[in-house]
Amino acid sequence: PSPRDLEGVKVVVSAGPTREYLDPVRFISNPSSGKMGFAVAGEARDRGADVTLVTGPVNLPDPPGVEVVRIETALDLRDAVVGAARDADVVVMTAAVADYRAAQRSDEKQAKVAGDVTIHLTPNPDILAELGAQKGERVLVGFAMETHAGVERAALKARRKNADFILLNYPTREGTAFGGDDNEVTLVRPDGSSEDWPRLSKREVARRLLDEAARLYAERRGM
Ligand code: C5P
Repeated sequence: PSPRDLEGVKVVVSAGPTREYLDPVRFISNPSSGKMGFAVAGEARDRGADVTLVTGPVNLPDPPGVEVVRIETALDLRDAVVGAARDADVVVMTAAVADYRAAQRSDEKQAKVAGDVTIHLTPNPDILAELGAQKGERVLVGFAMETHAGVERAALKARRKNADFILLNYPTREGTAFGGDDNEVTLVRPDGSSEDWPRLSKREVARRLLDEAARLYAERRGM
């Protein structure tokens, strides 16, 4: 059974991919399944937290006892997460936010033309960095996917975004990360220290993530 160590704690979790529309019927996205974020939301709920889950389009049902907000684009994700985070104690960004969106989203379906076409993309806001810039007492957790120099890059990211820690995962390992039920992650702190966790179910990764977040939360409140 889960400990009830998050009673009265407000937790916001983002999950899944975002969709960046080019026109009403076409978008740029990624294969994020949402499973990691849903596991964090379910585990936090079972430990007594008051949970808001902001999720992009995924094939997962609303977890009972969690406030679920369904969004599509990175801009909508930002509005929902920043709004929910205002009175949150812990924010976990598992969403695979698209780095770019179309500079101009057409209201009409674009007709096919002969030859190559060019799409202009513009950067999306970095939600974790935005939350980090106004962090207060909140515990902020990010995820990162890297193919090389993972720990160094993740530590740099944690510092730049003012996150308390980042769980680094690897897109190339069989059965983990995108779509899988397991994950193999390394916890990376801003100071560059790290812990390799074994391959675990996403629920067990969520459990350890929340152990670390709860520890930091208690420390920050002088508990
Ligand atoms: O994409 P990147 O590796 O920088 O993502 C690291 C963390 O930042 C993830 O937790 C992701 O959810 C978050 N992120 C974000 N807004 C973005 C891009 C990433 O909050 N535009």
